Amino acid sequence: MAEPASLRDRLRQLPSVKAEFPYFDTDRAPDEPLALLVEWLEAAIDGGVLQPHAMSIATATVDGHPSNRTLLLKDVDEKSVWFASLSSGPKGLELSENPEAALVLYWREQGRQIRLVGTVEEGPRAVSERDFLQRQPSARARAIAGRQSEPIEDFDLHLRPALKKLEANPDFVPVDWVAYRLSPWSVEFWQAERARDQVRLRYLREHAGWVKDVLWP
Ligand SMILES: Cc1cc2nc3c(=O)[nH]c(=O)nc-3n(C[C@H](O)[C@H](O)[C@H](O)COP(=O)(O)O)c2cc1C
Repeated sequence: MAEPASLRDRLRQLPSVKAEFPYFDTDRAPDEPLALLVEWLEAAIDGGVLQPHAMSIATATVDGHPSNRTLLLKDVDEKSVWFASLSSGPKGLELSENPEAALVLYWREQGRQIRLVGTVEEGPRAVSERDFLQRQPSARARAIAGRQSEPIEDFDLHLRPALKKLEANPDFVPVDWVAYRLSPWSVEFWQAERARDQVRLRYLREHAGWVKDVLWP
């Protein structure tokens, strides 16, 4: 009887995606990277990409210990991409001591990746409040029931009073719910393509504008 393939072999044999991906004409890319990000994001939404707004965001302590997690992209404006979280949790504390962060969006259905590196700051309070109040009641209750990323002692014991608090005051927003904006100084677009294998275009912020370079894959 044949030996079952090792995990290593199974990983090596996984097929690469053979879809007909969009053509990336780097000569026609806009001068502003966030304009291209919005163009690709809308194509991902229109093309039915699953959770196109799920992105990974890496932060680090001042002494260089990194951590990474998935968050939801909340908005994109001319200068920034937005996400929301608790400023009292690990990522919030890291961002308060080291506001540099790196972010990745990957849309496998379209063979596309976007990487951003930039500086994170808290957005206006009104944006954080609107974001929190648009969350499902259960998500709002969880956010105020305990401290994010701390061990749970008794879930129900803490959730019940949180739900009661929100019932009594539906407009309650905890002070540590924060809408953050990341303003990038580097944005790279990566497109898998059959003909050319992969195409990379990087924008680097320089003075008031952006410098574009096509990079070796
Ligand atoms: C698809 C997905 C979306 C998520 N969206 C958020 C989010 O928008 N905000 C958030 O605080 N955590 C979100 N999380 C949970 C985070 O990944 C993470 O577990 C949590 O924020 C604690 O991170 P920290 O301990 O690094 O602070 C999401 C997780 C997944 C898988």
